[in-house]
Amino acid sequence: MRIALLGGTGDIGEGLALRWAYHTDHEVLIGSRDPERAREKAAEYETELSSRGREVTVEGFANGTAADRAGVVVLAVPAYHARDTVEAVADSLDEGDVLVTPATGMRRDDEGVHYHRPGAGSVTELVADAVPDGVSVVGAYHNLPAGRLADLDADLGIDTVLLADDPDAAETVRLLTEAIDGLRPLSGGGLANAGEVEAVTPLLINVAANNEGLHDLGVRFQ
Ligand SMILES: NC(=O)c1ccc[n+]([C@@H]2O[C@H](COP(=O)([O-])OP(=O)(O)OC[C@H]3O[C@@H](n4cnc5c(N)ncnc54)[C@H](OP(=O)(O)O)[C@@H]3O)[C@@H](O)[C@H]2O)c1
Repeated sequence: MRIALLGGTGDIGEGLALRWAYHTDHEVLIGSRDPERAREKAAEYETELSSRGREVTVEGFANGTAADRAGVVVLAVPAYHARDTVEAVADSLDEGDVLVTPATGMRRDDEGVHYHRPGAGSVTELVADAVPDGVSVVGAYHNLPAGRLADLDADLGIDTVLLADDPDAAETVRLLTEAIDGLRPLSGGGLANAGEVEAVTPLLINVAANNEGLHDLGVRFQ
């Protein structure tokens, strides 16, 4: 399968790109608003993978080109730019494509980080409202620690909750997720439940900020 990471130049994009390229045979495309930056980051990821004996091609493109070429598109951009990014690549999203959103809206004050629920109920639902007809949205990866994903020496041993209304899209993302060693996909139900999952992200950030040695923590349900 071909996976495009829009904003794959950033933290969660890097982590997912490295993990998919390292643990699976899926083809990873890096998207950026600036195709040159995408190519540079893709080359960096190739170098990192090569240093571990994994010789794979990771290509970089403008976001629209990456979305056009892939069947699964991950919207790895800040929440406040998620909708704009979907609109910018809408012509490149085809019927049957799966759009995955990990974005959580947050605001920070002196006390810590707080969930900022959009009017749609969640960023995931906001994104679902913005995609062209025939494109299925799956919420996933909201609570993953990007730094731990990007450190290929780190064992994951963590869960990620998937939210989807389309069972076929959910299955596609479930398979892509469990192909990463140490990452367990769990269903959280439909898109209407996404706010509860997104709200866990600021909780993790606050726990990490207030407890020594927990800076890259994830969630394990047991
Ligand atoms: N970091 C984490 O640990 C983590 C974990 C789980 C989920 N998430 C979610 O994943 C999303 C991305 O997080 P991140 O930490 O990877 O973010 P980030 O590193 O700050 O940004 C990711 C990429 O988004 C693009 N971008 C920045 N401003 C943009 C704009 N105005 N319009 C369109 N694209 C823009 C940039 O790519 P170009 O400049 O190359 O276009 C950037 O490299 C967020 O919604 C976050 O809630 C993050």
